[in-house]
Amino acid sequence: MSGFLKNKKILLGVCGSISAYKAVFLTRLLVKNGAEVKVILTPSATDFIQPLTFSTLSKNECLVSYTRSDGQWNNHVDLALWADLMLIAPATVSTISKMANAHCDNLLIGTYLSARCPVFIAPAMDEDMYHHPANQQNIKKLLELGHQIIPVDEGELASGLFGKGRLAEPEMIVDFLEHFFTPHNSVLINKKVVITAGPTYEHIDPVRFIGNHSSGKMGIALAIALADKGADVKLILGPSSIQVQHSKIQVIPVVSANEMYEEAQKYFDNLDIIVFAAAVADYRPISSVDHKIKKQDDHLTIQLKKNVDIAASFGSFKKDRQISVGFALETRNEEEYAKEKLKKKNFDIVILNSLAEEGAGFKYDTNKIKIIDKNFQIASFEMKSKTEVANDIVHAIENLL
Ligand code: CTP
Repeated sequence: MSGFLKNKKILLGVCGSISAYKAVFLTRLLVKNGAEVKVILTPSATDFIQPLTFSTLSKNECLVSYTRSDGQWNNHVDLALWADLMLIAPATVSTISKMANAHCDNLLIGTYLSARCPVFIAPAMDEDMYHHPANQQNIKKLLELGHQIIPVDEGELASGLFGKGRLAEPEMIVDFLEHFFTPHNSVLINKKVVITAGPTYEHIDPVRFIGNHSSGKMGIALAIALADKGADVKLILGPSSIQVQHSKIQVIPVVSANEMYEEAQKYFDNLDIIVFAAAVADYRPISSVDHKIKKQDDHLTIQLKKNVDIAASFGSFKKDRQISVGFALETRNEEEYAKEKLKKKNFDIVILNSLAEEGAGFKYDTNKIKIIDKNFQIASFEMKSKTEVANDIVHAIENLL
């Protein structure tokens, strides 16, 4: 189990074949691997297996036709756009032919024709049917469309027990899909990455704290983008309402700057890449009291003490092979301050985001950045979603490896 099926949306089409029972095991395996599965049966599949079995295992309603008993219809376009991948298993001669010729007479074919995601087909039929020139021509057409045919299990073929055309075993189909979702040729595979993200809260008393408006969105988007490329990510996350679920991301929740430092420090020696995306509070109250401070005079003075600078601390003994990425959030003299931070904290690159830009910075889903490298070369980017910005940053990191 490599974990790359986790949270992937798989639309499974099941056709009328005796091997439809294997699609039950397949559904269970996909769900076990963390995929979200929706199943569509062709009407003839229901001669072999009932929708209830799939609904129960996938925890999503298994669909057969366009029409619904509540007078609504099953929207094939929504279903198709939902999917990260469409898998037809078992795929019969008839369904393969309908796919190749846009013969749209059921919900599965309608959905297939609306799909923009990659399509995988696991054929199941008797050997002569498989080799029939008409079927071979249809398979050729589907291959030309860029679809992938999941072959039968070669080991079993070699045993001479089964003819070509037999549906691949569910484990093999899952391996095939996992392989597809595993990033290849990425320089980030298995790289040890640490990301600090979110705000920190510095306690004043049991009910009050000093904090900031950071949502953690940018750091989380970066964690996901790096993990999707195969990196092993430790996300040291200050208080954030966002839930992160990814097999390659370990979330380490913290509250204060000191806690964030203590956690980050554990990995300083061994990490390959560290990204300082957290909005760390620069100061904390000199002493945090254990009772609620009562209202008294017109003025209240809370004495603050400087927090440790996590990025600067790492920068002071960073090894050559280690990459350090910082953020600079500025409202004026932006490039100048960002360059200063890059030098002072020994960053390899610094991501400058300006709060002066509408739609950039805390709380927004968008961001507008500049990436400054050690030679003070500046790359400016358009306003983009934080996910897209994360990909630009990941690309810059890849170029440093
Ligand atoms: N940073 C950190 N630890 C701190 C303060 C900042 O690791 N105690 C990191 C941030 O995560 C960011 C970078 O240092 O990557 C710059 O943070 P920023 O708040 O912009 O700069 P400061 O050094 O705090 O300077 P100032 O607030 O005066 O602009």
